[in-house]
Amino acid sequence: MSIIIAPSILAADFANIERDVNMINESNADWFHIDIMDGVFVPNISFGMPVLKAIQKHAKKPLDIHLMIVDPDRYIETFAALGAEILTIHFEACNHLHRSLQKIKSCGMKAGVALNPHTPVNNLIDIIRDIDLVCLMSVNPGFGGQSFIENTFEKVKQLKKLIKDNQSSSLIEIDGGVTNKNGSELISNGADVLVAGSYIFSAKNPKLNIDLLREN
Ligand code: DX5
Ligand code: ZN
Repeated sequence: MSIIIAPSILAADFANIERDVNMINESNADWFHIDIMDGVFVPNISFGMPVLKAIQKHAKKPLDIHLMIVDPDRYIETFAALGAEILTIHFEACNHLHRSLQKIKSCGMKAGVALNPHTPVNNLIDIIRDIDLVCLMSVNPGFGGQSFIENTFEKVKQLKKLIKDNQSSSLIEIDGGVTNKNGSELISNGADVLVAGSYIFSAKNPKLNIDLLREN
């Protein structure tokens, strides 16, 4: 399978959101990665439903929504109605992860689980067959533009093995500090989806950087 590139809209220019969404539409990127932060689970607030609706209005590629919020069950139906194709919730934010994943799927979305950098991959052993995508956080969630945590390389290998050993079909997504410098090692260790915010949107030629990530 070829690598999936998911530009993170958090790094876009919110005063020119239509322009930046169209740039992704016209590029070789595959998904829109959309970060929702509540100021409680993470020490930052990003944006909520009205902004997501504005993005969705223009987006012509699947919406990969990453919820960094406590008690995400409250909003699963809302995000389905807003057009999410993949809804990712945090392992650390769920008391009843199995139930939450079933609810996401029953609303017609793919179910993702994100792990903070300190959370061992093995925590997913009893749930990995129910997961469509595991998002390995390669920075502490909450902000774009942070440095990649090198330990992620090892976690990707461990997760790939866990997925294979349990005959899961889950994708592996990497989120935080991804560039063309670490992309190739992430892919060779088993990553399927690369999320990138500042590497794409801070570039002089964002479409070129999307291609550079893919060519890793
Ligand atoms: C961080 C977010 C990321 C972020 C990535 O909490 O989940 O998606 O936007 O941005 P960069 O690529 O700049 O680290
Ligand atoms: Zn994210």
